[in-house]
Amino acid sequence: MGDGFKMTLDLESMTSVQCACGTHFEFPAWVFKLIKNHATMPRCAKCTEIAKAEALAREPAERQERRDAAFDDRLPPLYQGTSFEQLYALPPDERRRRCKDATGIDQAKAAVRSSWVVLAGPAGVGKTVLATCIGREWARASDQRTLFVDGFALATARAQEKLGNEAPVVENALRVSQLIIDDLCARPSNALFDASSDVIHARHQYQRRTIFTVGHDPGAIAARLGDGIARRIYEAATIIELKPKASR
Ligand SMILES: Nc1ncnc2c1ncn2[C@@H]1O[C@H](COP(=O)(O)OP(=O)(O)OP(=O)(O)O)[C@@H](O)[C@H]1O
Ligand SMILES: [Mg+2]
Ligand SMILES: [Zn+2]
Repeated sequence: MGDGFKMTLDLESMTSVQCACGTHFEFPAWVFKLIKNHATMPRCAKCTEIAKAEALAREPAERQERRDAAFDDRLPPLYQGTSFEQLYALPPDERRRRCKDATGIDQAKAAVRSSWVVLAGPAGVGKTVLATCIGREWARASDQRTLFVDGFALATARAQEKLGNEAPVVENALRVSQLIIDDLCARPSNALFDASSDVIHARHQYQRRTIFTVGHDPGAIAARLGDGIARRIYEAATIIELKPKASR
């Protein structure tokens, strides 16, 4: 302890500060001296409370934006941004083009409560559009991850992998909280490598949220994957059979 420079910090003194709203209030003088940026000027107690309440009110919207962005990240570009509210906001003609079954949107909305959904119907009827709408609602309700996988990619992934190594997409499809299998059994694949049955079996066993879009009827799926897997797909599923039909 030499006789060198000694500085004392006065922590007690208050200074009168004017909030942006005009109110004057007392504020620790030493903190005020440190604030150089006027954008972060201290606010009065009332304004601080209001700002806190506003931030709290913004939270659900920000959380949804974050979850929507994470969900879009997993989708093919055509389906990014697709949601029930987006479909309802479209001009009627465009909405009917994307979902050719007039009752499809309402059926899909009701299916959000289900955790196992099959969307069936002919090409272009709106299966994938509605599958992504349901998946988005699931994604909004939790921070759980979604995988969107093409049925053929899932069916052939193992063929590209060295023996003994599981294909990454299969590993992910087995475990991920929410899975959309788009176009199950749409194209012929080698049954020896096809991971679809394993994925469906495991997800059914552990009750993991899954959406299937299928162009075929249950009979054709059974012929490809076997009766046991077809039963797991259809038995407890919410099945939405889409038929192109215009609304009145
Ligand atoms: N973002 C978009 N912009 C414009 N058109 C779109 C968009 N998304 C989907 N569509 C159109 O909506 C219709 C339904 O599309 P969707 O992909 O859901 O059909 P699908 O039943 O899955 O058909 P497929 O059996 O061929 O997979 C199609 O005509 C498609 O081109
Ligand atoms: Mg599709
Ligand atoms: Zn104020």
